[in-house]
Amino acid sequence: MKAALVTNYDKNSLELSLSEVKKPVPKPQQVVIKVLAAGVNPLDNMISRGEVKMIVPYKLPQIAGNEVVGRVEQMGSQVSQFKVGDRVFARLPLTSIGAFAEYVAVDGQALAKVPEYLTDVEAAAVPLTALTIMQSLDLMKAQAGKTIFISGGTGGVGAMAIPIAKAKGLKVITNGDSANAERVLALGADQFIDYKTEDYTTLLTGIDYVLDTLGGQETEKQMSIMKKGGQLVSLRGMPNGAFAKRMNLPLWKQGLFALAGRSFDKKAKQYGVSYHFIFVESNGQQLQEVANLFSQLKIKPSIDTVFVFDDVNLALDKVANGRSRGKTVLRFE
Ligand SMILES: NC(=O)c1ccc[n+]([C@@H]2O[C@H](COP(=O)([O-])OP(=O)(O)OC[C@H]3O[C@@H](n4cnc5c(N)ncnc54)[C@H](OP(=O)(O)O)[C@@H]3O)[C@@H](O)[C@H]2O)c1
Repeated sequence: MKAALVTNYDKNSLELSLSEVKKPVPKPQQVVIKVLAAGVNPLDNMISRGEVKMIVPYKLPQIAGNEVVGRVEQMGSQVSQFKVGDRVFARLPLTSIGAFAEYVAVDGQALAKVPEYLTDVEAAAVPLTALTIMQSLDLMKAQAGKTIFISGGTGGVGAMAIPIAKAKGLKVITNGDSANAERVLALGADQFIDYKTEDYTTLLTGIDYVLDTLGGQETEKQMSIMKKGGQLVSLRGMPNGAFAKRMNLPLWKQGLFALAGRSFDKKAKQYGVSYHFIFVESNGQQLQEVANLFSQLKIKPSIDTVFVFDDVNLALDKVANGRSRGKTVLRFE
């Protein structure tokens, strides 16, 4: 089968190599799916640059791609919740990615059934970002009626995070690119702040939860708008010791991440809030919860550009260059 491989880590070239490889055979707990569409994420480029090596050390060559939609073709002996022909989707488990291929073997625990109203391309935009917000809300122990600030909510994460947070009963405030203000308000955001002309640190106070999609200087700025006891989950800040422990990384890595994330932990203490870092993981049960919610609300993800699989490198380049108006997706014939 055809697959797109990371053959070496390279900060300057994100190019994957299109090669013929063996079709996978399912382990007892896996199914093999024929890939219909795959979401393309900034994470795919981070893996090619070697930026997540400390969290997941892939043995190269590695088939790329973290997010998949496909049809079940072959079943492992221990999988009972799916059958051949089911249309399923997943954020693939960290240690067995490989969505950029004609077939992929996936642990049954990572999969959920795709809501019928979504096309293959639309469904490919859901798992990674939807699980990111589900897992962030879990870490925050988010309660209905409280307020969340989602920074950069005009991007791919926001498109999932805003409707899911609303459906969980939260008040949602977001900021981002003003050209997308109407779209995010239509997703249910209660307040929109234009990041180029307004300063959210002077407009907001007493925020319960923050989903930080920006990192850098912005993380501390977001701590400053929070209530004491607030919970901030960062997607782009520094991983810390608590994160490494949660991920069951070896003790030496836990020590390194504790050092690396110390300044964020210290800042959080000064503001009286909790700082968490997250690296989104596969979870079929959580994804099924999202799928059921989407079936009720008929939420349509925003799609930016669809590429055919052979153009995978153009798709990765598009994602690397920002200015996203929604998800970039690969389509398989
Ligand atoms: N750790 C994890 O598990 C995890 C999971 C999912 C995503 N992520 C990360 O989360 C980040 C966001 O992902 P995404 O898919 O939403 O990105 P995206 O689609 O590129 O969207 C980013 C959005 O933020 C806006 N923005 C840029 N600078 C801003 C600022 N200073 N203040 C407010 N808004 C600003 C952008 O507007 P412009 O068009 O004006 O630039 C854009 O609308 C990425 O870095 C991704 O890697 C991490």
